[in-house]
Amino acid sequence: MPFGLVSAWNKRRRSKSHDHSDPWVYRPVEYWQLEDQTPRSTKRHHGSSVFTLREMEEATGLFSDENFLGKGGFGRVYRGTLRSGEIVAIKKMELPPFKEAEGEREFRVEVDILSRLEHQNLVSLRGYCADGKHRFLVYEYMKNGNLQDHLNGIGEAKMDWPIRLRVALGAAKGLAYLHSSSAVGIPIVHRDFKSTNILLDTNFEAKISDFGLAKLMPEGEETYVTARVLGTFGYFDPEYTSTGKLTLQSDVYAFGVVLLELLTGRRAVDLNQGPNDQNLVLQVRNILNDRKKLRKVIDPELSRSSYTLESIAMFANLASRCVRTESSERPSMEECVKELQLIMYTNSKGLGGVTYTLRKL
Ligand SMILES: Nc1ncnc2c1ncn2[C@@H]1O[C@H](COP(=O)(O)OP(=O)(O)OP(=O)(O)O)[C@@H](O)[C@H]1O
Ligand SMILES: [Mg+2]
Repeated sequence: MPFGLVSAWNKRRRSKSHDHSDPWVYRPVEYWQLEDQTPRSTKRHHGSSVFTLREMEEATGLFSDENFLGKGGFGRVYRGTLRSGEIVAIKKMELPPFKEAEGEREFRVEVDILSRLEHQNLVSLRGYCADGKHRFLVYEYMKNGNLQDHLNGIGEAKMDWPIRLRVALGAAKGLAYLHSSSAVGIPIVHRDFKSTNILLDTNFEAKISDFGLAKLMPEGEETYVTARVLGTFGYFDPEYTSTGKLTLQSDVYAFGVVLLELLTGRRAVDLNQGPNDQNLVLQVRNILNDRKKLRKVIDPELSRSSYTLESIAMFANLASRCVRTESSERPSMEECVKELQLIMYTNSKGLGGVTYTLRKL
């Protein structure tokens, strides 16, 4: 969990001991903001709104089945139409009582971090609802759902190679922005980067979502030791798992796993495989730099006319460096962005589409 954030909030609560208000009454960001860690000049609230429970019910037709989009660890997600007419995705917190405190923390982190960020590759938070014990997060609606469903879920036409490259580049740019200090003044580790947290808009532009586990890296520190390893099985940085040391490079590892999903069309963890083949990284790691063997793991759904083997080899090589066990040997997200631009250029040039210039990507 984002311990720095929470402790800042708790400290503030303790120091305001004269304030006897109900802990379930959500306080706006200003009350519990990251006063100790964050520079003053950060972007704040891009028009994100506070909604009532009634507005959430109205927007989703009382959480009707036809508006149901999917379910995750936090609760169900519904499509909704706000009074303004805007279509949004509404995530409803539904947790058993023993998990409520954890959910509340994730809710606060999501609202605080995401309302400060603005980037075309990060999903935007339109607002939230904290009415009594009810908690909702309201996001821009992403018409094409999450990346994993497109790779190996719903039976629609599969994404071809140029679109996959564009998704990889968009996600890389989103992570690079989080890792740079330009977002909130200090780098942010996402900590739960995975293909279900990459959402796709109408044009298949990738946007990263779910910042509930995100952690601001304290200034001047490159690692942060956590008491519990959090994230999703299949995307865990082995160094973080074994030492508890969180670095920006943990996101790079998870990014490498997503690159492998894009390349192979396989899941990060596939429980239908035998015990030795369940983990995608272990399955393919050793063949990523062997061009002959590499061909065997290319997603068979990819149309052969959409890729060049040169671009596949470059992509596999980048993925292999992202998932290195030693975090210091992995590239930075900035480097990944540059390499993916080059890979896109190489692919389009190899296919004869010389209209691309590197500058345009
Ligand atoms: N902004 C959005 N627009 C459209 N669909 C969304 C949006 N946010 C989430 N969804 C959909 O809702 C479903 C549940 O998302 P959710 O983030 O709760 O779960 P998850 O990513 O599968 O797991 P986790 O809880 O670990 O993040 C997903 O299928 C996702 O595609
Ligand atoms: Mg998610």
